Amino acid sequence: MNPFSILLSYQAQVEAKIEQSIAALGAKSKVRDACEYALRNGGKRFRPALVLMVAKTLGKQVDASEAALAVEFFHTASLIADDLPCMDNDDERRNMPSLHKVFGEDIALLASYALIAEGYRYLAQNSETLKQQQVSFSDRCDHLCVLAIQNVSYNTGLFGATGGQFLDIHESNLSLSALRDILHKKTVSLFEISFVLGWLFGGGELEKLPLVKKAASHFGMAFQIADDLSDMQQDLKNGRKANMGLLMGVEETVKMFHKETVSFLTVLQELDIQGQELEALIKTLIQKTEECLAVQG
Ligand code: IPE
Ligand code: IPE
Ligand code: MG
Ligand code: MG
Ligand code: MG
Repeated sequence: MNPFSILLSYQAQVEAKIEQSIAALGAKSKVRDACEYALRNGGKRFRPALVLMVAKTLGKQVDASEAALAVEFFHTASLIADDLPCMDNDDERRNMPSLHKVFGEDIALLASYALIAEGYRYLAQNSETLKQQQVSFSDRCDHLCVLAIQNVSYNTGLFGATGGQFLDIHESNLSLSALRDILHKKTVSLFEISFVLGWLFGGGELEKLPLVKKAASHFGMAFQIADDLSDMQQDLKNGRKANMGLLMGVEETVKMFHKETVSFLTVLQELDIQGQELEALIKTLIQKTEECLAVQG
């Protein structure tokens, strides 16, 4: 199984769904066009791919694509805010001007709000889609939707990405445990949403949700540690201290990264699902990280 080609097929599905969602954004306006700009601006589409993959591991062949879209909307909203001058002050995102550089800060703020709201709408819509398709757990879809909204609210709010972004900028006492808490809140949170939505809308057993969250936790932590390793030079230059590589040094950070990937694979086994694609995905992350470290020397 080629890990790169697996991700590609999911990316194509996500891109198609994003195109449809852009058509549903309504009449042209500066804020609507800003949403389109942010959604069309590339991105690896890791989080929505995970929703689809996790749902697929459950083998019920259900359509979780609107939930996948929702998580990409939340992620996109968080990146618009992350780049603002009052946050990371980044002029570029994915080698393109960041959204506020093109549309202004007022529009950036509103586009971020709009995408969050639209994300919640897609969550509710996915539950309706499953009922229409008369999946085997149709009678539970309303309950699953409530659980999904609870999980998303928790992970995007003060206990999740918003709280994590606050600490990322304002925490002055950066111990290892404080930094792990920041990474958990700002990044693992969105990965937990991906895994949980995939599991709920894929018809997974609710008793296994704690284990699903554990898998998400290791995956998300590995992901942000890899991002920190690749951003070390830039973060150093910009005085951003909340970077694991800068705090612990490359060697320790790489060890931490590998520990998370091994733990992820262990939890996958415990979950007892058809997890080959998820396994391949973490291997892609390992390979990309090793390539990046080799380039950095
Ligand atoms: C960027 O995430 C923000 C982090 C949590 C590191 P990604 O690296 O998934 O961003 P895109 O969407 O692929 O550009
Ligand atoms: C972003 O983390 C996390 C969120 C947007 C919640 P980073 O600031 O490290 O992401 P990049 O490096 O700008 O993509
Ligand atoms: Mg940031
Ligand atoms: Mg940033
Ligand atoms: Mg970064």
